[in-house]
Amino acid sequence: MRTTVGIIGAGPAGLLLARLLHNAGIDSVVLESRDRAYVEQRQRAGILEQGTVDVLRAAGAGERMDREGLRHDGIELRYEKKRHRVDFPVLTGGRSVMVYAQTEVCKDLIALQLKEGGPLLFEAEALAVEGADTDTPRVRFRHEGREDVLDCDYVVGCDGFWGVARKAVPAELTRVFERTYPFGWLGVLADVPPSHDELVYARHDRGFALLSMRSPSVSRLYLQVPEGTEAESWSDEEIWDELERRFETEDGWRLERGPITQKSVTPMRSYVHEPMRYGRLFLAGDAAHIVPPTGAKGLNLAVGDVVTFARALTYEKDTGSAELLDAYSATCLRRVWQAERFSYDMTTMLHPAPGATPFDARLQLARLDRIAGSRAAETDLAEGYTGFAFD
Ligand code: FAD
Ligand code: DHB
Repeated sequence: MRTTVGIIGAGPAGLLLARLLHNAGIDSVVLESRDRAYVEQRQRAGILEQGTVDVLRAAGAGERMDREGLRHDGIELRYEKKRHRVDFPVLTGGRSVMVYAQTEVCKDLIALQLKEGGPLLFEAEALAVEGADTDTPRVRFRHEGREDVLDCDYVVGCDGFWGVARKAVPAELTRVFERTYPFGWLGVLADVPPSHDELVYARHDRGFALLSMRSPSVSRLYLQVPEGTEAESWSDEEIWDELERRFETEDGWRLERGPITQKSVTPMRSYVHEPMRYGRLFLAGDAAHIVPPTGAKGLNLAVGDVVTFARALTYEKDTGSAELLDAYSATCLRRVWQAERFSYDMTTMLHPAPGATPFDARLQLARLDRIAGSRAAETDLAEGYTGFAFD
């Protein structure tokens, strides 16, 4: 098989890239190791930055998002039983975010790709990228019990943190920057209308909690739990009791309970692989970088990377100049590091680490008070949350 751009992975990065290339008249083949149902059901991110919303619309993939997505103009910070609302449009000159789940983004992009785009092969596992430093890179893959080769002009590794693409970059050219956190998030989906109409980020001495949503009738909630916690070790009642404690306010706000339909634990990690390009292999999304989820940057970063690649390849096709492709890694990394910083700041401000001292706790509260009391500090949060510009 032969194509211009071989894309490994049909998460948000790979699917959107295939769509952007299709719109630019560039052909591609997407290889995805899992089946379609798995990709469409995997519960992950829920918040789209303004820039991501704009990109999906421009790509012709925004119709259902505009119908069913929920525009959010702010978030609430909750600490010491107090509540502080951060108003995005007022602080950022009109920007907002959209609550529309990653599962739905993937469903929309898969439907478009199967209807209008190039091949999208499920249960096709990439085994290795070969010849990345030549003009004829290849992806070796297994599909329907047979090994095959995809010959490409370019390969884009959109295969997430556990993928194979990154391994094709020689170790001596690679620098990895990493931090793990001694806690994770226990996430649940519950069939109950969200108890607040905006997201609530709560800092409590017992740990962080987040109230989010998937629709007007489905809540998404998270609890900070110790690293290595098994989701099943928490009963539904224990989860609701703990959420109630961490969200408690002095004004009598109430958390509505409902049936929990899914439970899972997400580990927390910061990770950046530099460079994001080696020869004709480009890395995008979680294949190149991970942020801890506080602040919801993961999916949005993946979108920024593939927009940058599609733009660079289109420029090369139109002008013959590889200037933007050569700048790909540096261009993406500027935005990646801003998101790493933002996610780290949000995480360390809101999660009491095991072994934290009373001094550490006071500093977290002082950081929250600073946001609540200073327009400059609050604007910094609002700008970060609604998203950093694509270069
Ligand atoms: P992925 O979505 O990981 O997609 C990669 C795809 O490549 C997968 O479909 C995988 O099956 C496929 N693949 C892997 N290896 C191969 C191979 N060898 N051959 C072919 N295909 C392969 N972000 C938030 O903002 N908020 C959240 O709440 C949140 N929760 C998360 C929970 C979990 C458990 C994880 C892992 C991530 C979470 N994230 C969250 C991050 C966000 O979901 C990711 O940043 C986003 O999915 C990145 O998209 P991607 O396309 O780069 O990678
Ligand atoms: C969600 C996840 C996040 O990491 C976040 O900061 C906000 C919302 C969510 O899954 O809804």
